[in-house]
Amino acid sequence: MSAQKKKPTVFRCSSCGHEEAKWLGRCPSCGEWNTLREAAASASSVRAAGAAGTAERWSLPLAAVDPAEGSRFPSGMAEVDRVLGGGVMKGSSVLVGGEPGIGKSTLLLQVAAKAGVSGRVLYVSGEESAPQIRLRADRLGLAREGLEILCSGDLELVLDALEKLKPRAVVIDSLQTLRSAEAGSVPGTVNQVKYCALALSEWAKEAGSAVFLVAHVTKEGAIAGPKAAEHMVDAVLYFEQTDGELRFLRATKNRFGSTDEVGLFTMTETGLAEVADPSRLFLTRREGGLPPGAAVAPLWEGSRCLLVEIQALTVPAKASLTRVYSDRVDAGRVARIAAVLERHGGLRFSDQDIYVNVAGGMRIAETGADLAVAAALYSARSGLSLPDRCAVAGELSLAGEVRPLRRMRARVRACGALGYAEVLGPVPEDGEREPGWTGAATIKEAIRRLFGPGARGASGGKPGPEGRGESV
Ligand code: TYD
Ligand code: MG
Repeated sequence: MSAQKKKPTVFRCSSCGHEEAKWLGRCPSCGEWNTLREAAASASSVRAAGAAGTAERWSLPLAAVDPAEGSRFPSGMAEVDRVLGGGVMKGSSVLVGGEPGIGKSTLLLQVAAKAGVSGRVLYVSGEESAPQIRLRADRLGLAREGLEILCSGDLELVLDALEKLKPRAVVIDSLQTLRSAEAGSVPGTVNQVKYCALALSEWAKEAGSAVFLVAHVTKEGAIAGPKAAEHMVDAVLYFEQTDGELRFLRATKNRFGSTDEVGLFTMTETGLAEVADPSRLFLTRREGGLPPGAAVAPLWEGSRCLLVEIQALTVPAKASLTRVYSDRVDAGRVARIAAVLERHGGLRFSDQDIYVNVAGGMRIAETGADLAVAAALYSARSGLSLPDRCAVAGELSLAGEVRPLRRMRARVRACGALGYAEVLGPVPEDGEREPGWTGAATIKEAIRRLFGPGARGASGGKPGPEGRGESV
């Protein structure tokens, strides 16, 4: 028996990345001819071969698994930790997607430097030179200890560096500038992006380190976007900006946590600043009460309750077909709520163009916003303002009932803390009461409570032809 252990090899297809134990003239996966080349076996194929060789090693008792293996470490940025579900999972791969210029490089350089304070981190850049990165780090006032820079787009070189450095985390900026000789000659193709993402996430699993892969969202074209690598990684985060100042970091996939947390940042002179208390960020500051068309809703974004101002505007339709213009709240939902209001609220919307917006550019998916959207629409169409310092929360059924909402008491308390003394919502169940919480069983009752018993629709009746006026 030879003392030298031979490095395991496989035959890998240069077209699709498929691996075979022996050479074949034609790839059985993609059907290309003469594409199989001998290559060092990837970690997973070595594992598979090992498992096949030692029959007793197919599985292991759950109780024998060391739970410490799955532990997390802080990224150094609380908002990033929040989105990941409480820190960076060791051995995990995280894809960070976003439009060019949104701040991915800035965010990940900040994470790399902060996580580097308590362990080594490698920052691989295929887009910027080492002096450029140093300048940026200095301008951001970042610590330099523990942070290693590698400016290369060569996957094999990166993997070598990882073997030697054994960092606790590596940032790849970007996945699309990385290239492996094994996967064709052009960087950024779907094949390259998939191959490199897989190799790096396998390395992370093996080494118990974390890998962050930056990927630009691309317009249709030759360069593959982050979608190509989504199923190769444990978590997918998208960094995005709406029309406001805020930047949102959202998980669309997370094997180690929920996907409903959102991280909030603003871009400053010195990099991305975290917004720790966003509760009143989505409210418009103004003297006096709300103008007609505005309503405030307490909504859950992950573990935070935010007060959000919803704005509606209705104008007589210019064409015979009316339209709903709403990109922050699903337009189909707005149309449904308008129909419920027309049927149960006594105001006509079917001859109106409807505009709905959310202050601060927040996108709202929670159905708990239904009643506030209805109140804003009613207010816009009738010209009647909502009472000052009164928030609205509830889901609406097509029959015009206000349905119960989860975590309603906490919403009422969050409103109280921000000076909203009253919340109109679903009727509290037994033992659920909370000071400041007023219940309404139906949209009719809600209208009566918000706009007074004289308001159209408050006491029943047919849809009226016209509102009193239209404003924001
Ligand atoms: P960048 O992180 O390079 O974006 P991405 O990697 O997603 O393409 O930078 C985004 C923008 O932010 C860039 O136009 C410059 C700006 N910026 C600041 O306003 N302040 C800063 O401190 C930094 C580093 C960048
Ligand atoms: Mg960048």
